[in-house]
Amino acid sequence: MMEQQRRSDAITVARLTAAPSESVIELFRRSFPRHPVSQVDSVLASAFLGAYAMRSILLVAQERESSRDVGFLIGGDTLTLDRTRVEFIRKHALRIASNSTRSRSLFRLLLMRLRPARSFATAPYFEYQLRFIAVDPQARGLGIGALLVKAFEDELRPSLDGYHTWTMLGERGAEGFFTSLGFVRDVVSGDHVRLRKSLR
Ligand SMILES: CC(C)(COP(=O)(O)OP(=O)(O)OC[C@H]1O[C@@H](n2cnc3c(N)ncnc32)[C@H](O)[C@@H]1OP(=O)(O)O)[C@@H](O)C(=O)NCCC(=O)NCCS
Repeated sequence: MMEQQRRSDAITVARLTAAPSESVIELFRRSFPRHPVSQVDSVLASAFLGAYAMRSILLVAQERESSRDVGFLIGGDTLTLDRTRVEFIRKHALRIASNSTRSRSLFRLLLMRLRPARSFATAPYFEYQLRFIAVDPQARGLGIGALLVKAFEDELRPSLDGYHTWTMLGERGAEGFFTSLGFVRDVVSGDHVRLRKSLR
């Protein structure tokens, strides 16, 4: 507890509006290796994270003393998140597809290129979503993930009115992390679970 407290004091969380550092890009690629963008190269991953930074919320946790980036979070309102993702993937579909080792991904990407962007909604548009969060494996279990989620909630709170709730889609393995922060299980689908937390 003491260690966690000291650790939290040693971390700053900042909101970025452009592509993050190389270490955040590599953390994204290592933490989400099955994501189509991770399978291409760090230049494309950098552009992907930069697109979210410009249009949604990208938070980066940094060690105060060493200035080392140790975690990140991406989230925002579901409409903007979905548009950013679909527009980016459509724009780079052929490059991503040619790097994909899975024929299912290839099929989905080609389909995405043909269909209008609005058909890829993942949640109702009056909600906010935490889409990606990762902490450097060497810095896990020290409260940095919780700090990022709290900073995200603080970013959202001013724009919420009485009707907003908050959802996220996460890998099933991280469910305990989210439930410890007050999320409750909503829907399970394959490897993913959607959890919900109201910030009302
Ligand atoms: C999930 C992740 C971001 C957690 O970051 P972290 O900095 O290690 O988490 P914290 O130290 O802030 O943990 C906060 C709480 O969650 C708990 N927790 C963390 N990971 C957990 C897990 N996998 N299962 C159960 N509980 C977990 C901690 O014990 C702590 O609980 P406490 O406050 O009661 O002590 C990190 O493990 C990670 O990067 N995982 C890989 C990427 C990923 O799966 N992201 C989620 C899908 S988008």
